[in-house]
Amino acid sequence: MELRSRSVHFKLVEESDAEFILSLRSDANLNSYLSKTDASIDDQKKWIRDYKIRETEKREFYFIICRNDNGQSVGTVRLYDFITTTNSFCWGSWILNSNKTKFAAIESAFLVYQFAFEELNFEKSHFDVRKENSKVIAFHEKMGAEKKSETELDYYFEVQKEHVYNARYKYLKFISSLKEDFK
Ligand SMILES: CC(C)(COP(=O)(O)OP(=O)(O)OC[C@H]1O[C@@H](n2cnc3c(N)ncnc32)[C@H](O)[C@@H]1OP(=O)(O)O)[C@@H](O)C(=O)NCCC(=O)NCCS
Repeated sequence: MELRSRSVHFKLVEESDAEFILSLRSDANLNSYLSKTDASIDDQKKWIRDYKIRETEKREFYFIICRNDNGQSVGTVRLYDFITTTNSFCWGSWILNSNKTKFAAIESAFLVYQFAFEELNFEKSHFDVRKENSKVIAFHEKMGAEKKSETELDYYFEVQKEHVYNARYKYLKFISSLKEDFK
């Protein structure tokens, strides 16, 4: 399945992306609400090599978000923790740097759901967001996600396929790949 939207597309992570991933995860403007990453390129490469085995087994998918206009890598997103009993997947490692396109956030979220619901046949998604990450919480709630539980640090959300599909109509103008790319 080609995962391409109006201004961004996904490509599967490769070992050669280690430096870019590290640059995102060590950026103080972006990592306040992310789990800490080992700062060595070699460890990051090893992590990616281990991940590629899980990718072959279709247990996890880690994507680089790239701009359509110049191919530049602008972010990451990852689907993991696939639960067959509840037909639910988790997503995260969602980061976009300052070279992102204006609607890369909405487009990449819908590409995640498109891949998960249409290609992997999941029915819902679960994910956690740091309580202080209010912008991202608002983003997910606008898409129909509901808080299911919480710890001291995090909210645990769930969103049903049906709610994402309903939201998709509202956002069609952002995600359509038929219109010209724009910044
Ligand atoms: C999470 C992250 C990828 C989201 O990307 P973002 O670009 O900040 O997302 P935004 O919510 O600003 O959305 C981008 C644009 O779409 C708009 N938008 C978002 N949701 C919208 C909606 N439902 N309706 C209309 N417009 C919407 C925003 O207003 C924004 O437009 P603006 O630039 O004019 O303000 C990014 O903030 C990031 O990398 N954060 C650091 C890492 C992180 O915390 N990750 C999440 C861990 S759970």
